[in-house]
Amino acid sequence: MKKRTLLSMAMVATMTVATFAGCGGSREGTTEETATTETEATTEEASADTAATDMPGFEEGATIGISLPWLGTQNWKEAEEMFTTQLEEAGYTPLVQAADNKVTQQQQQIESMIENGAKVIVVGPVDGSQLGSVLEQAKEAGVYVIGYDRLLENTTGVDGVVQFGSVKTGELQAQALLQGLEEQKGEAPYNIELFGGGPADPNAPNFFKGAMSVLQPKIDDGTLVVVSGQTDFTQCATVDWDNAKAQSRMDSLLSGFYSDKEIDGVLCPNDGIARACITSCENAGQDIPVVSGLDAENESVEWVWQGRQYSTVAKPTEDLVAKTIEIIDSLQAGNGMPATEVTADNGVIEVPVYELPPVVVTKDNEKEVFANDPSRLELLK
Ligand code: BGC
Repeated sequence: MKKRTLLSMAMVATMTVATFAGCGGSREGTTEETATTETEATTEEASADTAATDMPGFEEGATIGISLPWLGTQNWKEAEEMFTTQLEEAGYTPLVQAADNKVTQQQQQIESMIENGAKVIVVGPVDGSQLGSVLEQAKEAGVYVIGYDRLLENTTGVDGVVQFGSVKTGELQAQALLQGLEEQKGEAPYNIELFGGGPADPNAPNFFKGAMSVLQPKIDDGTLVVVSGQTDFTQCATVDWDNAKAQSRMDSLLSGFYSDKEIDGVLCPNDGIARACITSCENAGQDIPVVSGLDAENESVEWVWQGRQYSTVAKPTEDLVAKTIEIIDSLQAGNGMPATEVTADNGVIEVPVYELPPVVVTKDNEKEVFANDPSRLELLK
């Protein structure tokens, strides 16, 4: 930073011509992408000059560590398979591991990736805030660290994060819920309940925050009634994203609050929890409520088609893996992190974010959304 502020505008202009092509800039440089003034924008270009030395490339065939939180939902299983195959195809040596939702196991797996000479470690954290020291260890060893699908919090040991917009995902879930209620449950008011994901996962509060930005005004004006009164993330969260825990909370809500009422809708943060809540309602003899989801898991793709689950949100693993490998290629070639205009505050630094758009799926657009996904299209019969 200091070095760059000393550069005169004239020097910057000359250097830009020589160094701009292909250089993404250092972490600080990328953070400044959001800058709008000419001076700051030019400073960003100057930072590209430091990329080659700040972020040296590495040999072809290098080991790339992939540390996944667990394999409990379809997206992580897909990531395990796709990273293994596609990193090999790209000429790298993949080292792919999953941590069974255990923080200590993930810390040990990352340590062993560093010991095994990994040049890049891609991490979907079990707990976004518990990997600070091991990631800083990686950084000291000259390893690049990329957050995958979830933010890496409270650490300087992260070079960027690849993910689908998580607040946006929550907004889409809530909009679909409202749309489904209007379509299927007659006139307002509607009785609903709210579910959140695993509290250690930084995505979960963001999904909930996005959803509540849409739902809270409708709760305030009486369109929606949360019969249990449980509207805080902490009351609604599902520890470890465990479907069984969600199902048993839904069972208790139904027996405690709905013995003489119908439940019209349930905000669910992913497909596993959506199916658990639907099953609980069916078991309690309720008509199926309007339920949101996430991941476009095969089973939910079918349930949406059958009208049993109202919506899901597609965040294709294939696109996220491809984006990650594109970044790894840039690092390997010595070009540093690609430029991005989006950053996230991880509590310590502004982390460059490579954000892809999530897409809401209902029965109405399901065939279009999966037009280029033969395995999911196949399920729509
Ligand atoms: C992912 C979701 C997934 C959930 C549970 C979240 O961080 O974004 O796709 O369903 O974790 O595994």
